[in-house]
Amino acid sequence: MAKVVVTGGSGMLGRWVVRHFAEQGYEVLSVDTRQPDEAVCPSLIVDLEDLGQTYGALAGADAVVHMAAIPRAGMVPPEVTFRNNVMSTYNVLEAAAGLGIRKAVIASSESSYGICFAIHPFGPQYVPMDEEHPQLPQDSYGLSKVVNEATADMFHRRTGMQIVSLRLGNVIPPDWYERFPSFIHKPEERERILWSYIDTRNAAEACRLAIEAEGLGSVALNLASDETSMDIPSRELMTARYPQTTDFRAPLNGYETLLNNEKAKRLLGWQPKHRWREELK
Ligand SMILES: NC(=O)c1ccc[n+]([C@@H]2O[C@H](COP(=O)([O-])OP(=O)(O)OC[C@H]3O[C@@H](n4cnc5c(N)ncnc54)[C@H](O)[C@@H]3O)[C@@H](O)[C@H]2O)c1
Repeated sequence: MAKVVVTGGSGMLGRWVVRHFAEQGYEVLSVDTRQPDEAVCPSLIVDLEDLGQTYGALAGADAVVHMAAIPRAGMVPPEVTFRNNVMSTYNVLEAAAGLGIRKAVIASSESSYGICFAIHPFGPQYVPMDEEHPQLPQDSYGLSKVVNEATADMFHRRTGMQIVSLRLGNVIPPDWYERFPSFIHKPEERERILWSYIDTRNAAEACRLAIEAEGLGSVALNLASDETSMDIPSRELMTARYPQTTDFRAPLNGYETLLNNEKAKRLLGWQPKHRWREELK
């Protein structure tokens, strides 16, 4: 049985990743600075900013799924976010490389494009935004994700380790769908995340498919549902909130996602199965 270490396993997304790998028959070790609410698998309290602890946590693993981070700007001072997110990712990949681990997934973010936490607001250059769209963060959280993707590239060059960086849209656990009716008709809400969302179960499955895939090298993939989180057509959302963006690279005649997810589907054989309209029924 393959062993996978999930970092951030006590977090909002990490707990779903832990559960998914366990259900799929993997031996799982959950690693976090805090105890999990639910004991699905063995867990270790580890500060990933410490390389020695990180080595100890990853020893014996076949793969690592690194979800641990400070998950947005503004929670703690910016340099704390930057140091934690950049050093923990460096240490996870340094330890994985030293231990001969060949597969890793790391959590990147749509915030790496910079729109989400911009101090000087700006819109996308084109939509749906694919992975070629420039990453232009003005904040240390977005920058930490850009740096982490570069760190992944470096470790791939050094060791050949496969590292998939998942640029997650806004992460939604199943019990959050009841909140959707409060915003689905308000285009001004969630505009900074291009109204994107990704169900925790869909994201967890993508993590596993990324670990099971072969030959991906170091690659960044947007991860979002096929449709936005809104009950307003995507073209109307863009016209209302980002009128300067006129480069539409898809027909946009429905509610389709403005964060292009085609690459993840193509490379991972992934489909976002859980959708907010069905979940609300
Ligand atoms: N929540 C979102 O909408 C969203 C969107 C895009 C990307 N992401 C990314 O997805 C990942 C998971 O986010 P989440 O919303 O579940 O966040 P979360 O805060 O719920 O979970 C993150 C976990 O990481 C742990 N952690 C942080 N620093 C650590 C360290 N140095 N050592 C060990 N553990 C540490 C925390 O204790 C926490 O349990 C993060 O990398 C985040 O940046 C989240």
